Amino acid sequence: MRNNVSIGLLGLGVVGSGVIKLIEDHQEELVHQLGCGVNVKSVLVRNLEKARDVQVDQAYLTTDPNDVLHNPEVDVVVEVMGGIEEARKHILEAFATKKHVVTANKDLIALHGPELQDAASKNQCDLFYEASVAGGIPILRGLSDGLVSDRIQQVMGIVNGTTNYILTKMNQEGVTYESALEEAQQLGFAEADPTADVEGLDAARKMAILARLAFSTDVELSDVEVNGISNLALADLQYGKKLGYTMKLIGYAHCQNHNVEVSVQPTFLSNQHPLSSVKNEYNAVYVNGEAVGETMFYGAGAGSLPTATAIMSDVVTVITNMRLGVNGRRFVSPRFRKELTPPEQRFGQHYIRMHVKDEVGAFAAISDLFNQMDISFERILQTPRTKNELAEVVLVTHRTALLNFKESMDKLNNLDVVESVESTFRVEGDAEK
Ligand code: HSE
Repeated sequence: MRNNVSIGLLGLGVVGSGVIKLIEDHQEELVHQLGCGVNVKSVLVRNLEKARDVQVDQAYLTTDPNDVLHNPEVDVVVEVMGGIEEARKHILEAFATKKHVVTANKDLIALHGPELQDAASKNQCDLFYEASVAGGIPILRGLSDGLVSDRIQQVMGIVNGTTNYILTKMNQEGVTYESALEEAQQLGFAEADPTADVEGLDAARKMAILARLAFSTDVELSDVEVNGISNLALADLQYGKKLGYTMKLIGYAHCQNHNVEVSVQPTFLSNQHPLSSVKNEYNAVYVNGEAVGETMFYGAGAGSLPTATAIMSDVVTVITNMRLGVNGRRFVSPRFRKELTPPEQRFGQHYIRMHVKDEVGAFAAISDLFNQMDISFERILQTPRTKNELAEVVLVTHRTALLNFKESMDKLNNLDVVESVESTFRVEGDAEK
């Protein structure tokens, strides 16, 4: 191996610039750790003339991916260009030319991770993707190294900063979803097209990757049930507050007897739950292991330098593997065939807000229905309404079978005394569990 290790960058946007800056500013730390320097030898960009906020030798910039992928001096290709098909093609080409790959691309890993991992192994190359989930938080390595001997039972994550920022503003300042989103866009947390974030898809991609590592099985993106936050009413957040809950977009992955269940949904978290204190654009991942118990990883989920630290930790691992001659071992090989938890084995606690006719016997009818469905209430709130003689009723159930809960919602909608079921949400972290 040469004295210095050279990187080829695919992309020089926010994250690519962070990688260059980190390599420059933290070269001493890298040399101390590796015993050799790390430098950037080739960078794929779209526009050679664009003004940039990092210094890169113009001779290293190229618009031809082959200048990076076939450059004999490049040992490690760092993919930070984003997108799916083009990035996938370049990464496969990098493996064909026996280069190791580090990527920050969650969309690509969520959709094509197993295929790319196979291609890496066949070519005795490494593929690492720490930066693809929760930016600067070293959660993938936390699961695959730190907790490697444990059996993980549950992973809950606030893994999308945009939605956490919006929900924090709605909760703390009582502003609507629309104005919180606008503020997030002005501050640059939310994209001009926020769909992937607010509809939960970004979080779902990250949860698929987390669940794969945590439970050692090939969870696919299509296995993740997804609900976003774009239809949230401020009224629900305010009721939640009264009940001691904070609304969060929670990625939930649960494993029991090798059956896995993964979802992303707006969730009322008890204010006692450690994730409820994660505010603004921050991310956190709460992991429950059989041996370790509760742990929580907290930090910046995005941003140039935090994401660059995750990329460089992967680069250091690749270089260490090069020294040891052990590149190409799968990051984590799935041990178990995937089995999804059957609907009848899913349980949870639920919040329900409904409009009810304010008349004698209304509550008795609702109670009867839940009684028949074997669902008991933990909390009840009723607010009289002046208009239309309707009362607003909020219930929180005890932990109950999901199938029963869904059936009871259909029946509830058909009761004469119920005008409408306005909203339902999962509830997590109450004292009973
Ligand atoms: N759009 C993501 C978020 C950051 O809001 O958390 C990149 O994963």
